[in-house]
Amino acid sequence: MQNANGTLLLNWTSEHVAAFGQRALVAKHRLDELQLFSDAGLVEVLHAHPRDQLQAFTMGKDASNVQEWQPVDISGVSAEDMLAAIARGRLWFHLFRMQHTDGRYKKLLDQLFVEISQFYPRLRPVNLSATLIISSPKALVYYHADPQFNFLWHIRGSKRLWSYPAGDRELIDQQMMEDIFASYADEEVPYKAHFDEKAQVFELKPGDVIWSPLNAPHRVTKLEGLNVSISTVFETEESYRRKLVYSANRFFRRSCGIPTYSTRETGAGSYIKRSAFKALQKLGVVPDAHRRAYVAQVRLDPTAPNGIRRISGGPVLTEFSKREFTLKKNAVGQATAVPIERS
Ligand SMILES: [Fe+2]
Repeated sequence: MQNANGTLLLNWTSEHVAAFGQRALVAKHRLDELQLFSDAGLVEVLHAHPRDQLQAFTMGKDASNVQEWQPVDISGVSAEDMLAAIARGRLWFHLFRMQHTDGRYKKLLDQLFVEISQFYPRLRPVNLSATLIISSPKALVYYHADPQFNFLWHIRGSKRLWSYPAGDRELIDQQMMEDIFASYADEEVPYKAHFDEKAQVFELKPGDVIWSPLNAPHRVTKLEGLNVSISTVFETEESYRRKLVYSANRFFRRSCGIPTYSTRETGAGSYIKRSAFKALQKLGVVPDAHRRAYVAQVRLDPTAPNGIRRISGGPVLTEFSKREFTLKKNAVGQATAVPIERS
């Protein structure tokens, strides 16, 4: 998995290390030199990747209209046709947990983080996971914030990324952050055009890797070419502690009526709140992380002008959701996704 020089990271400096988690930064890497990300390499993984670990979406052109973002059914479509549809449509594919399904990605992930640890020995990534993102030349990613740390390795095509300051309540209010940490929200964060005045804008080319402070909101528009990136997400002690604080606030306030608002991550009060929440989680009192059903009204079609067509006969459950949900139709034909009960 190594290039001629044996390393995957380039031009990382002590400045990058010092700024980790403080501000958005871009450095260089060499993943774009690997055959793994050629069209043939992408077809191979699209063919082999488990369908309950693969999400496909389509979207509109307006960054503030998240309603246009919708799941796409890919059942029965060949990997070659998927790639052809991505190249011509407005599509966005997420292949989760690549390190579990493809040994080459596991090796790549291991090598990247061994090299990162040489620059940043104090980084202790937990639950590290790699998502392969393949998207159309004009696709967009709506405004959102992630609950974990992330390095985004850009490999093919070009894109523009807006990175906004973390912790600014005008950009994402506290209640929305709680919903993000508790998995009740992702791309539904309200976005206003004037937020852009606070953003740093990056044009990412193949060989760029970007990382932002924890929970910093961001959005992306693709500029040209089929876009390929790997998102490597991970927890740290810091991100886990913050997740507990926000999730505890959400649970105690909304489920127990206790007015918990403090977002302090240190001190006795914070410690007691986090410990009580963890204990209640263990006892099964806190509901499990919210899972949503992805129901598709459109199906991938490489012959359609935008790569999709409407499904005749009503919506279907995407393969991503089939392990956990089933679709039930009522007397007038309306479909509702229902969780599968397991004994
Ligand atoms: Fe993100």
